[in-house]
Amino acid sequence: MEDLRLDSLEGVGPVTTRKLSDAGIHNVMDLIVRGPVEIAEITGMEKDTAEKIVNKARQHLVEGGLIAKDFVSASEIYKHRQSIGKITTGTNCLDTLFDGGIETQALTEVYGEFGCGKTQFAHTLSVMVQKPKTEGGLDGGVLYIDTENTFRPERIVSIAQAHEMDPEKVLDRIIVARAYNSAHQTLILEEAGQIIEENNVKLIVADSAVGLFRSEYLGRGTLSVRQQKLNHFVHLLARIAETYNCAAIATNQVMASPDVFFGDPTRPIGGNVVAHTSTYRIYFKKSGKKRIARMVDSPHHPEEEVIFALGEAGVIDPEDAEKKTKKTTKKASIKKTKESVDDTAETLEVDATESTIDIESDDLEPIEE
Ligand SMILES: Nc1ncnc2c1ncn2[C@@H]1O[C@H](COP(=O)(O)OP(=O)(O)OP(=O)(O)O)[C@@H](O)[C@H]1O
Ligand SMILES: [Mg+2]
Repeated sequence: MEDLRLDSLEGVGPVTTRKLSDAGIHNVMDLIVRGPVEIAEITGMEKDTAEKIVNKARQHLVEGGLIAKDFVSASEIYKHRQSIGKITTGTNCLDTLFDGGIETQALTEVYGEFGCGKTQFAHTLSVMVQKPKTEGGLDGGVLYIDTENTFRPERIVSIAQAHEMDPEKVLDRIIVARAYNSAHQTLILEEAGQIIEENNVKLIVADSAVGLFRSEYLGRGTLSVRQQKLNHFVHLLARIAETYNCAAIATNQVMASPDVFFGDPTRPIGGNVVAHTSTYRIYFKKSGKKRIARMVDSPHHPEEEVIFALGEAGVIDPEDAEKKTKKTTKKASIKKTKESVDDTAETLEVDATESTIDIESDDLEPIEE
């Protein structure tokens, strides 16, 4: 393993090392993730000096084969892409959509309305990433940034059990960071380097990535500040994923846009910021009890759709959901016959999460960047 300590860089002595670590920069990777402008800002050092240090860090990592050179041949990129890890979703349908699974070194945005399964998807991946490589995982840990207090260890336990994994071990490898406001959410990510390394984190979840920014910066006047801060957050997330070779998932809720008359009247509330930074964008949509996942934007996947479902095991294949429904329908019809009610027995389930979609005027405007 390459020496990643700050003082392994030529010309970085104890004084600079201390200055950097006081500012939360603990290793060579952190230097790359934060970049020269930010380093100068948080340490108070000259921008030129910060640039020199970051360049040295980059050179160091290139020599160690940890990141790509500035100029590379396409065949080298191809070879490098072979080292990209994939995390199975635990379903055939979504694995087909993702061509094998969620990729490392990339930011995947999942957007859709409330209750469409974004959080269930994030929980499922938090379990699947821990599977050995031979079974579609990356034998890695998870950093779960929870901004809406919707992380549920109980869900992790049932998903792990459904995949015949030891729930206690699975829970141990998920580090949950509860973010209380958008500044805190960003801080968590800024300080994540050490945690990622120590725990061999291969998946970072930001659920939701935009919710806090949206609730804190209300109204037209604050829109540009909000977009700027959100931009910083998602870029940081994308850079961490690339530098540490882990997968990053950002969830984003959509709301109705009454100004859209054709096509789907929903769009992500993060505006274009998250969309432009993400490598992959997936849209989840409710369709009765089933869910539809569409690959909206990808550099190399066709735009296609698959049907999936939600269950005890997290995201599941629709066939598996049908098996279960058949069982419950059968039970229900027996009960109904006993009570000698009308023999057209049919189970009807009401989605408890059904409610109206709220609309904010500033979200209806196209967002300028
Ligand atoms: N144990 C379970 N078994 C089956 N389905 C479940 C279970 N737990 C949750 N669900 C399903 O997941 C849905 C909620 O999904 P989820 O919380 O992932 O939505 P979301 O997209 O994150 O919504 P929001 O935007 O509000 O955060 C519920 O409506 C329910 O259908
Ligand atoms: Mg959610």
